[in-house]
Amino acid sequence: MDKKVDRGILDTVPRTNYGSIINVNSELVDWTAVEGQPGNYIKVLALDEERHRVDFLFKQDPHAEFAKHNHRCTAIAFTLGGLWGYREGEELHFRGTYSYEPPGSIHTPYSTADGMFLFGSFQGTSDLMLDILDEENNVIDELRLDFFGQYYEG
Ligand SMILES: [Fe+2]
Repeated sequence: MDKKVDRGILDTVPRTNYGSIINVNSELVDWTAVEGQPGNYIKVLALDEERHRVDFLFKQDPHAEFAKHNHRCTAIAFTLGGLWGYREGEELHFRGTYSYEPPGSIHTPYSTADGMFLFGSFQGTSDLMLDILDEENNVIDELRLDFFGQYYEG
């Protein structure tokens, strides 16, 4: 007779708070399409307005792209699946690769036929996270923490 392991409250509830700790069962959070970025989807895990921080899962459909941007925050990206790169670089990223994107780094993430799936974390010094750029690196939009807030159900 199979006995199901009791995994506790997060087995059936997407989020809990344990004091100031936020716990998320990301499997129970739905993907949301990212506004203005076709083929890009996000699950916001935690958003800390006081500390200008957002943690999220991010995925792209095969051959999708995210707008060229300049980081006003520090970012990390840990790839969980797929195969992707920066238009400006040569490397491809796959499950287990890690990228550190410091403030001032400019790039355009795109996915190959395999799509992409990663964990990302943005740590800012204000609520300004990204400058969205045109091909000549002119700022055409800004992504602030409240942009991510619209996808946060916490
Ligand atoms: Fe980036």
